[in-house]
Amino acid sequence: MPVSQSSSETSPEILSGKRILLIISGGIAAYKSLDLIRRLRERGASVRPVMTAGAQAFITPLAVGALAADKVFTELFSREDEQDVGHIRLARECDLVLVAPATANIMAKMAQGLTDDLASTILLATDRPVLLAPAMNPKMWVHPATRRNRETLAGDGIAFVGPGLGEMAESGERGEGRMAEPLEIVAAVEARLSATRPTSGPNGPLSGRRAIVTSGPTHEPIDPVRYIANRSSGRQGHAIAAALARLGAEVTLVSGPVTLADPKGVAVVHVQTAVEMRDAVLAALPADIAVMVAAVADWRVADIAGAKIKKAPGEGPPPLQLTENPDILKTVGHHAQRPRLVVGFAAETDDTVANGRLKLARKGADFIVANDVSAGSGVAGGVMGGTRNRVTVIGRDSEESWPELDKDMVAEKLAALIASRLD
Ligand code: C5P
Repeated sequence: MPVSQSSSETSPEILSGKRILLIISGGIAAYKSLDLIRRLRERGASVRPVMTAGAQAFITPLAVGALAADKVFTELFSREDEQDVGHIRLARECDLVLVAPATANIMAKMAQGLTDDLASTILLATDRPVLLAPAMNPKMWVHPATRRNRETLAGDGIAFVGPGLGEMAESGERGEGRMAEPLEIVAAVEARLSATRPTSGPNGPLSGRRAIVTSGPTHEPIDPVRYIANRSSGRQGHAIAAALARLGAEVTLVSGPVTLADPKGVAVVHVQTAVEMRDAVLAALPADIAVMVAAVADWRVADIAGAKIKKAPGEGPPPLQLTENPDILKTVGHHAQRPRLVVGFAAETDDTVANGRLKLARKGADFIVANDVSAGSGVAGGVMGGTRNRVTVIGRDSEESWPELDKDMVAEKLAALIASRLD
């Protein structure tokens, strides 16, 4: 996955002064942890490393310690270390525990609550947020045992970044299992830290703020059984609604037809068409924030047939007369009750950023989140309908490219950006 190295990709202030306990377990991807340490530290975080015995077969504690500028902890029963810091203090005196790479073995131990070395003991003893960057052979990643462990850990509140698709360093096999790139892990650490800030929830930075989010596709009927639609799943919009609610906002989510459950703590208005979506959005005004994520159909059928259009032999297909749908973002961006912060999305297949910038002005938005939805975007599984996204956030005088992330992470970072802008 190509990740550009520009330093504008992440928000340095989130990591400044943060203490990351980095557990390196034994996999070939451990070599990437060296770069990861550098990336975290250059953003102001301190990194305290713990290495498993397996990790030390791939990289040396000397290299890790030198890059982290800290002692490397490796032993559970080291008298010196226990008197000095101790595994309980290691587990608690940090803002986040990051396991990178996380092997199938350490995931299995965590899922079972096993503690047979320093790393697994810390992972059971910690009360801090935990983020795993799995790395393993693709067959191990899709094995039912690993699937079960991942589900168990996700249920326990453990967050994941990656793995991505790629070629395995050791075997050349292709598939999911490649550790996320260091910059993607840094972004996930930031997202996790901003989501778990003690100020989140009812006393969060967005408490007292009202937000309207649109999500999903619209269905524009042709006749009672047929409609025009697109591939939007609603994942990104729903994740943004949930992330804003977690920061304390009172959120109205106007959702087109999706198969997702309604996010917790969010008022959801279900609609089918663009016209219904516009009406529901305008009914939810006034608001402080509008995030228009829905993939609204640009056109609807001018005359919807009251009965199913029949296929008449020899007559060919019926002509479909289309008419333009209302542009909801543009309406909100120029409304008398315009929210203080208006954010739009721009799904583009070419000239992503240039087109996003044009859209910013035309629609009266403060930010356009531009994403490349072309088949060649390189995003695993495709953006439309998929679980991952790579976006550029375009402001009136700013532009930030984020690495490829899970849509949940994009949502958390965007919610944090919105909160900082409204501050
Ligand atoms: O013009 P385009 O469809 O590319 O613009 C995308 C942005 O505009 C998204 O934020 C989308 O939710 C919003 N939009 C809208 N109403 C439309 C079309 C797009 O709100 N009819």
